[in-house]
Amino acid sequence: MKPKAKFISFEGIDGAGKSTHIAYVAERLQTALKTYGINVICSREPGGTPLGETLRELLLQQKMHLETEALLMFAVRREHIAQLIDPALARGDWVISDRFTDASFAYQGGGRHLSLDKLNILEQWVHPDLQPDLTFLFDVPLDVARARLDATRQLDKFEQEKADFFADTRNEYLRRAAEFPDRFCIIDSTQSIATIRQELDKLIDALIQKAIVP
Ligand code: ADP
Ligand code: TYD
Repeated sequence: MKPKAKFISFEGIDGAGKSTHIAYVAERLQTALKTYGINVICSREPGGTPLGETLRELLLQQKMHLETEALLMFAVRREHIAQLIDPALARGDWVISDRFTDASFAYQGGGRHLSLDKLNILEQWVHPDLQPDLTFLFDVPLDVARARLDATRQLDKFEQEKADFFADTRNEYLRRAAEFPDRFCIIDSTQSIATIRQELDKLIDALIQKAIVP
């Protein structure tokens, strides 16, 4: 009995704390799954492939038309699915992606107001049959996220956006979480890192149990 391959995404507005927990989840999963000969592959968007990482540089630094930005995000995703995600899942490995299509809905749709119809068309084009099995949404009020960002790093193009942008981005994430409750798991990221880890431990154990199909 081998756990079925799973695709897990991490989402949240910048500064919510998602990167803090990805390595922890990956390590815990890898420890649990290695007895089955299963690898855990950690990747990210925009990025995940050599071409995707090159496009990431442009996307995070250069101003561009909002539709160009959305199209490039999906171009990166198309390559990511073809080169990394699909082959890994086909081998039976588990894939963790730091962001996936929910980020396009939240940032380009919510934050920049690109029509959700256009995003739905791109999603149908690029991955009609693929969705994450589980999406962790790290959720915090804007002021908490902003304070965390300001304390830690040089801000990229998205991170320099104003509060309204992040309010709309967060609302679109929460709207999607309500639309797809079976897949989304909202983590209250105002809690301490230790408390969030305990919550993640339980969720990961449950996910592995569910993945073992007799
Ligand atoms: P994201 O990847 O969502 O942009 P990060 O994981 O990089 O955010 O976190 C941003 C900053 O906030 C980091 O300095 C991190 O240590 C801190 N941080 C993350 N989660 C918490 C938390 N639950 N409590 C306090 N600080 C946190
Ligand atoms: P991220 O890797 O989370 O940034 P960091 O390493 O600084 O934490 O994400 C990069 C940025 O790209 C982030 O601000 C969100 C944005 N983004 C979109 O706008 N649309 C998308 O489809 C994706 C995947 C990311």
